[in-house]
Amino acid sequence: MEGANESEPSRREIRSHILFEVATEVANRVGGIYSVLKSKAPVTTAEYGERYTLIGPLNRASATVEVETMIPANPHLAATIATMNGRGVEIVYGRWLIEGAPRVLLIDTSSGYRYLDEWKGDLWNVAGIPSPLGDHETNEAIVFGYLVAWFLGEYMAHETRRAVVVHFHEWLSAVALPLTKKRNMDLTTIFTTHATLLGRYLCAGSVDFYNNLQYFDVDSESGKRGIYHRYCIERAAAHAADVFTTVSHITAFESEHLLKRKPDGVLPNGLNVKKFSAMHEFQNLHSQAKEKIHDFIRGHFYGHNDFDLDNTLYFFTAGRYEYRNKGVDLFIESMAQLNHRLKSNGSKVTVVAFIIMPAQTSSLTVEALKGQAVVKSLRDTLEMVEKGIGRRLFERCLAWKEGDNMPDEKDLITSQDHVLLRRRIFALKRQGLPPIVTHNMVNDAEDPILNQLRRVKLFNDRSDRVKIVFHPEFLNSANPVLPLDYDDFVRGTHLGVFPSYYEPWGYTPAECTVMGIPSITTNLSGFGCYMEELIENSSDYGIYIVDRRAKGVDDSVDQLTNFLFDFATKSRRQRINQRNRTERLSDLLDWKRMGLEYVKARQLALRRGDADFFPLSFYFLPKAYPASFDPSEDFNDIIGGTAQKIARPLSIPGSPRDRTGMMTPGDFASLQEGLEELTTEDYVSWKLPEEEPDENPYPLM
Ligand code: UDP
Ligand code: G6P
Ligand code: GLC
Repeated sequence: MEGANESEPSRREIRSHILFEVATEVANRVGGIYSVLKSKAPVTTAEYGERYTLIGPLNRASATVEVETMIPANPHLAATIATMNGRGVEIVYGRWLIEGAPRVLLIDTSSGYRYLDEWKGDLWNVAGIPSPLGDHETNEAIVFGYLVAWFLGEYMAHETRRAVVVHFHEWLSAVALPLTKKRNMDLTTIFTTHATLLGRYLCAGSVDFYNNLQYFDVDSESGKRGIYHRYCIERAAAHAADVFTTVSHITAFESEHLLKRKPDGVLPNGLNVKKFSAMHEFQNLHSQAKEKIHDFIRGHFYGHNDFDLDNTLYFFTAGRYEYRNKGVDLFIESMAQLNHRLKSNGSKVTVVAFIIMPAQTSSLTVEALKGQAVVKSLRDTLEMVEKGIGRRLFERCLAWKEGDNMPDEKDLITSQDHVLLRRRIFALKRQGLPPIVTHNMVNDAEDPILNQLRRVKLFNDRSDRVKIVFHPEFLNSANPVLPLDYDDFVRGTHLGVFPSYYEPWGYTPAECTVMGIPSITTNLSGFGCYMEELIENSSDYGIYIVDRRAKGVDDSVDQLTNFLFDFATKSRRQRINQRNRTERLSDLLDWKRMGLEYVKARQLALRRGDADFFPLSFYFLPKAYPASFDPSEDFNDIIGGTAQKIARPLSIPGSPRDRTGMMTPGDFASLQEGLEELTTEDYVSWKLPEEEPDENPYPLM
């Protein structure tokens, strides 16, 4: 046993420790946590191999397509699963079919519901957490939590040799966390919160959140919103964890005030960055994907295709439907203002602004389906006509002899062709305007997005320079109307617009960046603060940051409109250059770099699990990272110092900030050697505001 003293045989091996990550989005997409787990899988499996297992609740629909079942090779895991199976708990074990192919263990919560009442009582007795009747989400969290605790207890009885780290993501997965402490399990834990419950709820209402963070009476605010019991689970998890972390400094600050524990550090979210061998391959991909969006537009706007697609820009926003938190209010307001400005400037540019946000729908609309169908019929008919012309021309040429006239186009298109063409063209006539929304909404009359579009009168009129398409479902290539996966769609657009008010990290603009697509974010999002801290004049690099912290809403809308207008007036050459600069920032977001914060968090957890045995000097760089790996060197190459990878164009003022000596871009005094907790001063780029609170923070509604 490594470094172990023979007189202490019970010590667990640390270097070959086992890692479990527990989350509700394992092989089950809901929002950004799925992106964390999926994109991080290659670096974590490179580091741990089969010592790494993800645990989540079983969602049969997604597990069927995302997971290939297997027999566990690890005897301890196999024995644990067999014991639980024997007690009627169903578990699917297998390989998650994503890059890195991590092992996943999905627990069927329905097989635990018979214990629900017993477990609710226990949760109250051991942790003082109440659980009212009828809250399905909390019931799921409790059943899942108790099943995970059961699993861990069994597993620890089998695995007696190696240390075990269990990393929980978000409160929904973390009921087991306080239970591991109460039951004195010999394992060490990390809790990462990706948002706080109260933060999300308070921001979604009309509260001036950031100016009042330190004053909220958390018990009463959560009680008023009917989430006191959920809040208790979240707070218990944050306090019971050996290491408590979150995804950005802004959320660290929020967690300190709302969860009453200072995070030990920040684990910023990375991405699995793909480098193409040909430098400009991503530009070609943009062009190809844009063609596919053009196809959708031709169908959606049939009868109104009087704008030049070569002079059309695609803007979009996307995410879970949180109207205010995701800044959809600002998005729509700014699009209305942009429309007005483009019109009054006589601009020939058309902007199509997409909103990709799942809402309750019953089906695709007939009109949306018809649009694609009529254009497809036209295309098919033209192909037929084309073939007929080719055939007839060929025959004429073959039969031609001296003295004959040259083949005439009048002889080539037959009268039948003319009739067919006329029919296809007439089918393109439409009565009303091209629709805003592609699906039948369950609650059309009360939908906040539709209502604001009505209010600002963005109706896809011919004269509008900004057209709107609201697609209330996540994208997927099997969709008959917009048949593109989200990533391909993003590549084909010109600008992602994410003016969030509440956004602990915000994957969507980060994903744009690594695909070389410029985006707009805010200084209230973790990603925005992170980029603002790293890069001066970030807009030159295609990261526009709207100030939603110091500015009132109207000023933020103006700023956003200016960004949009400036972007819309760029030449194609300028857009191509900007995309090149944006794409060069990808390395800043690569898990190969960001993942180091996770490494540090786990080592801190191991140390807290067994401090005497894990001296500070014991820190190690996992084998997956080459011994020569020096993130700070590489980092300087990307954006600072001698800047080898990003050569700043001479025409562009300003430069990325010099961050010489930083361990990783996320390494703002968090989880460092000294292992001290963050201090408020460490919340980089986040200071308490000094101005008076805005009296009416939501004049848009
Ligand atoms: N997303 C998706 N399909 C879509 C639109 C969005 O898969 O059609 C994903 C997107 O790639 C991103 C996630 O949804 O990874 C949203 O994560 P984010 O961190 O931005 O927000 P969250 O939903 O976690 O608050
Ligand atoms: C890429 C392609 C170019 C294309 C351009 C269009 O850079 O490689 O061939 O002209 O995209 O850019 P735009 O911003 O107009 O979509
Ligand atoms: C949460 C946050 C989002 C973050 C994601 C992953 O759902 O809302 O901002 O990007 O988790 O950490």
